[in-house]
Amino acid sequence: MENNIVWHAHPVTRIERERLNKHGAAVVWLTGLSGSGKSSIAGALEQALYHLNVHTYLLDGDNVRHGLCQDLSFSDRDRKENIRRVGEVSGLMMDAGLVVITAFISPYRDDRESVLLRLPAGHFIEVFVDTPIEVCEQRDPKGLYKKARKGEITQFTGVDLPYEAPLKPDVHLDGRRPVEELVAQLIDYLKGRGIIK
Ligand code: PPS
Repeated sequence: MENNIVWHAHPVTRIERERLNKHGAAVVWLTGLSGSGKSSIAGALEQALYHLNVHTYLLDGDNVRHGLCQDLSFSDRDRKENIRRVGEVSGLMMDAGLVVITAFISPYRDDRESVLLRLPAGHFIEVFVDTPIEVCEQRDPKGLYKKARKGEITQFTGVDLPYEAPLKPDVHLDGRRPVEELVAQLIDYLKGRGIIK
């Protein structure tokens, strides 16, 4: 089938959409354990960017698994497919000129690397929300670690399945710090990269 499909180059480009928006487009990819703070940081970052007149969209693991990825489990195979789909959607939204923020555990380096490779160079920003598992487990906002320790949930990242931390993230956040501080760190990074003013 692939042989019968052609790529259409459209007259309006991402660069023109970025010019119209008065800011760059990027995918800000938050990765970290369950309970590391990804969703809180992502939400607060989106709010801060909104106040800076930046066009954004936030894709969050829990939400995406209610729709786009509702057919997927937490097996390695399905997590790969989860990240592939989210990578595709993020790429399209980035092409639309948005600063896309994603909050997925995305535990495997290969899967995150595949998203990076799918995007034009320099548009994937890997953010490691680095929160020790003991802290995540203590927070346990959804009671999932407790269930995983009791064996009521299987294939739980950090308990039965590994989390592969980024080796050279673009931004390294200490997930134990206050959210406002981490958002300021991200905003500084985006300004430093010239993505926002
Ligand atoms: S992944 O690994 O990127 O495909 O996961 P993601 O799509 O981000 O979904 C993570 C959220 O699903 C809930 N949940 C689990 N997480 C990990 N392992 C297992 N087995 C599991 N079962 C349910 C959990 O609420 C995760 O949300 P966060 O916000 O990360 O805590």
